[in-house]
Amino acid sequence: MNNLNRRTFLKTVGLATAETLVGSNLHVLAETQSEAATPAAANDHIQFALIGAGIRGQGITKVAVQVPGTKLVAVSDTYQGRRDHAKELWGNDIFTTVDYKEILARKDIDAVVIATPDHWHKQIAVDAMHAGKDVYCEKPMIHLYSDGPEMIDAARSTNRILQIGSQRVSNVVYIKAKELLAAGAIGQLNMVTAWWDRNSAIGAWDYTVPLDASTETCDWPQFLGTAPRIPFNAEQFFQWRKWKAYGSGVAGDLFVHLFSGTHFVTGVHGPTRAMATGGLRYWKDGRNVPDVMVALFDYPEGFNLSLRVNFVNGGAESEGLIFTGSEGTMEITGNGVNVSRVPRETEPGYTIDTFTVAMQKQILEQYRQKYPVTHPTGPPLMSFERYAAPKNYDDVYSHFNNFFNSVRNRQPVIEDAVFGYRAAGAALLSNRSYYSGKIEHWDPETMKLVS
Ligand SMILES: NC(=O)c1ccc[n+]([C@@H]2O[C@H](COP(=O)([O-])OP(=O)(O)OC[C@H]3O[C@@H](n4cnc5c(N)ncnc54)[C@H](O)[C@@H]3O)[C@@H](O)[C@H]2O)c1
Repeated sequence: MNNLNRRTFLKTVGLATAETLVGSNLHVLAETQSEAATPAAANDHIQFALIGAGIRGQGITKVAVQVPGTKLVAVSDTYQGRRDHAKELWGNDIFTTVDYKEILARKDIDAVVIATPDHWHKQIAVDAMHAGKDVYCEKPMIHLYSDGPEMIDAARSTNRILQIGSQRVSNVVYIKAKELLAAGAIGQLNMVTAWWDRNSAIGAWDYTVPLDASTETCDWPQFLGTAPRIPFNAEQFFQWRKWKAYGSGVAGDLFVHLFSGTHFVTGVHGPTRAMATGGLRYWKDGRNVPDVMVALFDYPEGFNLSLRVNFVNGGAESEGLIFTGSEGTMEITGNGVNVSRVPRETEPGYTIDTFTVAMQKQILEQYRQKYPVTHPTGPPLMSFERYAAPKNYDDVYSHFNNFFNSVRNRQPVIEDAVFGYRAAGAALLSNRSYYSGKIEHWDPETMKLVS
């Protein structure tokens, strides 16, 4: 967050927290994006390239180019149709190539955005940093555990900026939730429950395969990279999330967002133990990853995390996180955060009516000496507050604005490789447990699997 944002945000928070917690209040959080637009001098223009111009890559690049002082100059993708569409979107001057190394060789490119399938994240990010580029790499940061240390080392040794793309880390709602938790809005945290449910073919990753998909238009070897060599398969090319060789299952796709959110809001580094179960319940179309997964995690800070993804939930898509504490609950859902708060009771109460009348009287007398009647009587009042992001707020813009600010000012990013590895490493622990049928252990400080 730049200084201007921080000042605006703190001001809003100040106003919000000055209000009483009793009753029902709605607060609209500060709109960061309009103020975030720090005009850049022509000579500190950031030129960037997109590597992996699929659904996500094109989507976030449309937002990234809105950050002032930036310019998209090149696009790499292994499918011809997406390279052609990049020119339709951003003009014929955009340099396009199937080989990302041609982008890395260009001296006029300062930064790259990586939105390829997961199995390419590490190699392209490491190559890019060694070529002197700053990197915005989509989540999940890793596909294999060995990717994490390599990416962290490359960022350190090359002194390049590496930001991971879990945009919720820059989201005003999550920033507010973090502050509320730290301020004690729900007391002592003991549980986080989070889920991401879907009920549609596209939700279950059945993305459209273009009619011209072939080895003429798709560079299959360049798509496969280090994945096992198999003959060209258009479904695997365009719906790669369904296969472990390229994607990371529901854990790498969606749990990782819930981990990023949980870790950011609570400020912790990760779980020590994980147990996951689930199965392939409905989308039996040749995929080799589950479509239902539930997992439980222990955090050394004294809370548990329970996660669920269900691609056959029989209802509307929904996503949320509930933080449960000793004095209330905080729910992040939609574009806001709700705090329901019931302060702890001021007296413990009694269960005496099965005792003799004399005993009841005696206990009651002692009880009232210890807990005199206060007014008002009865259980503490529940209060409800909602903090909502402004209409049309887009956290991808905030995340890119943070990234480009770091590129420009050489300041640490909001979501660095260590944060990204801790989120993705925790998420992949679920896959390990699912496939092994065992509880899996992880050291969140050293970021190592514990056997
Ligand atoms: N942060 C988020 O909320 C979010 C949302 C969606 C996707 N993602 C992430 O974005 C990434 C891309 O997902 P997607 O849905 O856009 O997939 P996609 O299949 O639509 O796009 C991936 C593109 O990468 C290209 N590609 C593959 N290998 C390449 C290589 N070696 N060089 C250049 N291009 C290559 C493919 O041709 C394809 O066009 C994934 O890692 C995913 O987890 C993040």
